Amino acid sequence: MSDAPRAILDIDDLAPGELETILELAAELKAGDGGPSLDRTLALLFEQPSTRTRVSFEAGIGQLGGRAVFLGPDQTQLGRGEPIRDTARALSQYVDVVAARVGAHADLTELAEYASVPVINALTDAAHPCQTLADLLTIRERHGEDARVAWVGDGNNVCQSLAVGAAMTDLELTIATPPGYEIDRDVCDRAAALGGAPEETTDPAAAVAEADAVYTDVWVSMSQSVDREKKLRAFEGFQVTRDLLGRRTLLHCLPAHRGEEVTDAALEAETSAVWQQAENRLHAQNALLVWLFDQYQR
Ligand code: CP
Ligand code: NVA
Repeated sequence: MSDAPRAILDIDDLAPGELETILELAAELKAGDGGPSLDRTLALLFEQPSTRTRVSFEAGIGQLGGRAVFLGPDQTQLGRGEPIRDTARALSQYVDVVAARVGAHADLTELAEYASVPVINALTDAAHPCQTLADLLTIRERHGEDARVAWVGDGNNVCQSLAVGAAMTDLELTIATPPGYEIDRDVCDRAAALGGAPEETTDPAAAVAEADAVYTDVWVSMSQSVDREKKLRAFEGFQVTRDLLGRRTLLHCLPAHRGEEVTDAALEAETSAVWQQAENRLHAQNALLVWLFDQYQR
């Protein structure tokens, strides 16, 4: 039993064996195995909007016998300039864990550095590990452990955490992006060190050819300050259509921009797993919380 708080800033802040344990626990919790009663308080520090992450964490900690305190944009002194490091130290006096969506990954790193309780990444510009937990659970449910997934779209936060998570679980991942929109090289390096960097291409059709599932996400993420029209032009030919999807499983972290990265018909296809993915956010995060409190005693 360790007294040091764990920070889950990306999926590889878990060891591969820990990731496996959490995925197995998530499946057990989903199957109705209850789980321990956690008399714990979770702070949800959200500087950006959220539907799934906020509600699944809030409902989830309630199901486990704990409680959440939601701190939305402009609801804390952060909005009036209180430093993140001071916020981290103050929150640590009241709550047992902080899940934070603060935009810049460096801000999350600072929060974790100064907090004396575990910090969980609830989305940054670089990573979305909670989404990856749910994605890996969903892919296993649909296709078992030897699945092949094609990412078609932006090499963004969701894609980057998936690339690392894929390497940790032997999931075969091919990423198709327009030139210039690839995942960061350091993410490829981390994936390579953990089991294998993803295949990369600029051809969506080639990426999906051997895939069991096709994953996409918005072309312009919340933290990206870019020329939107220019970016949309760069992604012409990368839309996941019903035709490109074929009989493969559709994955999307949501929210979707129908008519941009994915068509309405693809999102509503019989093989769409997006609502299963959304449900699995709850089970995966509950498993993460149970695991976290099991090995970290405040
Ligand atoms: N997928 C995801 O994180 O959704 P929200 O932005 O609604 O939390
Ligand atoms: N890539 C998206 C994910 C939202 C859950 C974004 O960062 O806006």
